Amino acid sequence: MTTLYHRAVQGFRARFLREPELVVRGPGRVNLLGGHTDYNEGFVLPVAVDRAAWVAVAACREPQATLRALDMGNDEVIFSVRRVPASTGNWADYPKSLVWAFLERGLRPVSCEAVLTSDVPVGAGMSSSAAVELAFAYAWNVLSGFGLTLDELALLSRQAENEYVGVNCGIMDQLVSACGRAGTAIALDTRTLQRTYVPLPAGVAIVVADSRVRRALASSEYNLRRARCEQAVALLQTQLPHIQALRDVTPKDLQRYGSLLPDVVLRRARHVVRENIRVKQAARALHRGDLATVGALLKEGHRSLRDDYEVSAPELDVLVEAACEVPGCYGARLTGAGFGGCSVALADEAAVPELETHLVETYTARFDKEPAVYVVYSADGVAAVQAA
Ligand code: GLA
Repeated sequence: MTTLYHRAVQGFRARFLREPELVVRGPGRVNLLGGHTDYNEGFVLPVAVDRAAWVAVAACREPQATLRALDMGNDEVIFSVRRVPASTGNWADYPKSLVWAFLERGLRPVSCEAVLTSDVPVGAGMSSSAAVELAFAYAWNVLSGFGLTLDELALLSRQAENEYVGVNCGIMDQLVSACGRAGTAIALDTRTLQRTYVPLPAGVAIVVADSRVRRALASSEYNLRRARCEQAVALLQTQLPHIQALRDVTPKDLQRYGSLLPDVVLRRARHVVRENIRVKQAARALHRGDLATVGALLKEGHRSLRDDYEVSAPELDVLVEAACEVPGCYGARLTGAGFGGCSVALADEAAVPELETHLVETYTARFDKEPAVYVVYSADGVAAVQAA
């Protein structure tokens, strides 16, 4: 049983002087490939990981939710589960957003008491927010007896983040936090939510390096990228009336009609169109254990995010280049939205010690600060966890 399970349970007992009814674990994720494709109805290849948000929770009589975040200096919020207050720009927006989304659907979540703890680094591109959303969504779904499916909980959480929190994210993070499976990556079609679970080959490690760069403007830049993609679709629709999203655009379409787009819009569209192809190629290569091909696609994906989509940062470029210099590392790229946060590399397990050392040394020499480097393991999606 992990430490965070106990931390959540003990935190709950200390605060509410009783036992929690439920302990829920909602995982973070790392995306191997498919950057900024999900809000273009495209393809992604994420993995749910062994870093997660944990919620210990019990229903209560009072008409409100009382929630405490153990990692935020025990910060506590109390709010009505019938009329959700406006967002305040902190961690509590995520659970509040879910109550808001349940109410939007005509569902009345029970009032409850809960504590939250998490080891998903915040703002690092590993979906700390989706982890919290899914943990609370799952808890309220069980305690209130709604019977929503995991896919429904993912969609509800995405709506909560889009409309209450105000980040126009796609479905990837919530879906993989809901439906991930240990030992696999999910090859996901974000339009239909159809997916294939692709086994991760034995002996390969997923190595994440956190640049520790956090960009305050990340969410407005993110929304701006999305707006550019929508602009590309609107312009291309004048010639290609059947397209609904960049997912429907082929490289040939772009060759033919790219001149309709302003340069920056064309580059954004080109990234998305090619990235969708890369994801499908990578999923097939992963399936047959062809890590050299997967690695090459990761590297190409990074160049495209850096040059065409412009969501990298010098710190991330250095981490990616340094990783690729180490023998036994297949490839690397930035993961998550970019602008800062983490890189991800696929490497032979035997190469991990050298990879770690090289990343730390190269990065520290260049930026005078240390990255946080860790190996992450694939894990299952959100679930209630029983004490051993
Ligand atoms: C964030 C969003 C996701 C996705 C990625 C970029 O993690 O939450 O929906 O768009 O960025 O691939």
